[in-house]
Order: sequence, then C-alpha cells, then structure tokens
Amino acid sequence: VYGGVFDQNSPHSDTRGLRIDVAEAIRALNPPVIRWPGGCFASSYHWRDGIGGEREPVFHQSWRVGEPNSFGTDEFLRFCALVGAEPYICTNAGTGTIEEMSAWVEYCNLDGTGTWARRRAANGFAEPHRVRYWSIGNENYGSWEIGAKSAAEWASFVRESAKAMRAVDPSIELFAASTPDIDWNLELLREAGEYLDWISVHAYWDPLWETNNPASYEGCMALSRSIPQTIERTEHILGALGLLGKIKIAIDEWNLRGWHHPHRWSATKDYRTPRNLNDINSTYTMADAVFTASFLNESLRHCTTVRMTNFSPLVNVRGLIYAHRDGIVLRPAYHVFSLYAEQMAGEVVDAWVNANPGFTVTSESGETAVPAIDAAATVDRSEGRLHLAVVNRHPNQAVEVSIEVRGAHAAPVARLHRIEAPSADSYNDVDAPSVVAPRREELRALAPGRFGLAAAPHSVSVLDVDLAAGIR
Ligand code: AHR
Repeated sequence: VYGGVFDQNSPHSDTRGLRIDVAEAIRALNPPVIRWPGGCFASSYHWRDGIGGEREPVFHQSWRVGEPNSFGTDEFLRFCALVGAEPYICTNAGTGTIEEMSAWVEYCNLDGTGTWARRRAANGFAEPHRVRYWSIGNENYGSWEIGAKSAAEWASFVRESAKAMRAVDPSIELFAASTPDIDWNLELLREAGEYLDWISVHAYWDPLWETNNPASYEGCMALSRSIPQTIERTEHILGALGLLGKIKIAIDEWNLRGWHHPHRWSATKDYRTPRNLNDINSTYTMADAVFTASFLNESLRHCTTVRMTNFSPLVNVRGLIYAHRDGIVLRPAYHVFSLYAEQMAGEVVDAWVNANPGFTVTSESGETAVPAIDAAATVDRSEGRLHLAVVNRHPNQAVEVSIEVRGAHAAPVARLHRIEAPSADSYNDVDAPSVVAPRREELRALAPGRFGLAAAPHSVSVLDVDLAAGIR
C-alpha cells in the first residue's frame, strides 16, 4: 500500500494520496475483486485506528514496522471504486476480537442505526459501503501467524465470529482461513461450515521467505507441475465432506514467488532491509509470465469449484506492478493478467492437447517431466467469440501447434495476441520497461476451423476467433 497504491508525497498521486498511474494500470486489469489489508498484516491490524480525521501511527507487530494508518478502510473502498473492483476485507482473527470484526461489518454495511454506522456517517459516508466479501482471519493455522490457533480453537472462533458478523449483515459472503489439511477442515467445516460460503487457501511455489534465491526458468516450470494438485487437494477434502459445490474455493493469495522477509522474529538480525530484495525487477521473468498463465488456465479448468483467485501482492514486493518515484514498471506477469482479463471472458469450454511435446527438468529433487503446451478455452456466446490461451513452457524450443475448432464455425481470420521475449530470463525494468510486452497480429485459418500457431519458447498466446453462425 504505502509507496505503491498510496503515496501522499508522490507527484503521481491525487489530492487524497492515491497513485493515479498505479490505479490506472490496475484498472486496465479489470479486477473483479481486491483483498485487503492482508495477509499476515491483517492478524494484528485494528481497523478503528484507520478511520476518521486523526490517525495515530502505531507499531505493527506482524511485520514489525510503523503503520501510519493514513490508508484505512475508507481509503481502501475509495481505491476499489477508482479501479472498478469489489472490496474484500480480511479481518483480524489473530489479536482481534469477535466484537471488533462484527463492528467492522457494521462500519461498512449497516445503515444509520449502529454506533459504527453513525461513525461512518460522521466520517462523511452517509450511505453504507456494502462490502460483500469478508474473510475471518488469515492463515491462523500457521505458527508464523500472530494469533495462530489449533483446529478446535479455530473452528469455534470462526463459528462465533460468523454469527456476530452475520447478525450485522446476513447478506455478506463469509470466508475462513483454511489449508488443504483434512483435520483442519474437518473441525472447521463441521463446526462452522453452515456459516461459510468460501474457504480461503493460499499457494506460493518458490519458497523465498528466508533465502532470496529465485528458482531458474526450468525450476519454475517444474514447480508449475504441482499447480493441479494444489487445487485438487482442497477439492478432494470438500468432496469428502460432501461440500464440493456448496462451499466455494478462494485461492485468495497465490504467486509463483514467495515473498522475501527473512529473520522476521529475530532479536538480533536485520529483518527489514532484506525486504528490499523483493524489489529487484530482474527476478520477475518469463518464468513468472508462463507460470501465471499456467495457473490461470488451471483455475479456468476448475472454474466450477475455484471461484476466486487473488494474485499476491498487487503492487511492489512480488507484485505485478513495481511503483517507483518516477513511474511504474509492468512486470511480465502483469501482461498475462491484462491479456486474460481482456480476452478470456465468458464460459469455459473443453480444450484438449494431444501429442504434447515435453521436456525434463533435472534438479536435486530428481527429474520432472513437463509438458510443453498448456491450453484453456472460453467462449463468449453474446459476442460469438472463442478465446484459446496457449502456453509454451519449453525453455528453448518453439512448438508448431495445430489448432482445430470443433462445435462451431470459425471465421477464416483470427486475432493473435502474443507475450514473448528474447530470453526465458527477460524482464522489464525502470530503464527498459517494454522488453516484455504483448504483440497483436492476425492469423489466417489453414482450412475451415483449423489454424497453425508457431508457439515461441517461453511464451503465452491467446487466439481470438469469431464464431460465425453461432455455437452448438
Ligand atoms: O509472505 C507473505 C505472507 O504469505 C502473507 O502476508 C501471508 O498471508 C502468507 O503467509
């Protein structure tokens, strides 16, 4: 948030401190939802410190930094309105209380009858903000989280918090911090499942918390092979409990790269300066772009159960956007999000890949076979268009992809959007912001419904096909 979304001293900010250049780049992603204030940050955040005229800076335990409180609930909701996203608030189930959580719902959603609704009105917001998405806690299963709880403690805490929050606004959609562990979910869903609409799980694949040694391109491609099981483990747990389809899955924090914040609880080591290593833009390469597209494709394939995924974080650290004093850098994965947001709309349809060439990644943990091509498709019936996303994970070989459209008549000329780069390790930076940028061209059919796509190594392509004469 500070120095990214919000910077009262930046020439790029509006009169209330929101970075307009950052907001415009985010708006271009057409984000349906943005989650705040954290992450671990939420587990020691007291929302009442961040409202009203006088904001007292505090020490924030989760990240052991100063929190000026100049960006609070009303600033977040204004930011969401500016970028066109629905807000999703993650409450403090660490050091927070059930009363504090339900009062936050009151501040945001109740009309003038309650204490905190009156306070909102006094702060200039007579109308309720109507925040729809609310999470109870963040990773309260983990020892790293302030206010971590046992499965039994968590289940009853979620149940009682949910009751209090729903008492204020029964229409909210409630999430609870979860993890793909059967014991954790058995307790949670037996005790509190009736109050929950979602479970929230997180996924980071390149574990850089303590040591900042980003995995190579090939290493990231090997990591991409575990994306399906990350999703399926949660699906199977819900299935075992008969809740698949009743409780939705939100992967509401995910990123190829884990954040870097070493020695977080150390009394002797420097725990703050190393966090600047997250800002090295050369870390974020075509590996991030190809992995991100692979994850989004997998999410599309699981769209009946995975109903929300939130890249984490949005700006700076490991984010899609790097904000600096003079402007912003759009990292490679930003362009994947931008392309998918623009193209991959509508209804997910089946896409098959046959005769997929592959490659093998050899690492300390052995050999991993990686299929080169990954594809996902959507149709927009109202516009009569098919969008086919094709990822080539291969580090150094192009793949001739023969595309066959079935079940509809494809127009003879399609539009092709490519995200490619000279090297698997290409990246964007302050002095070279467009090494990785989308290119647009036309692609003529080889025959009715058949296209030939030369998928470059380490690339993401989206084919945009007009479907003449409707879709069967
Ligand atoms: O490393 C960042 C942290 O990862 C997020 O704050 C938390 O939710 C997750 O453990």
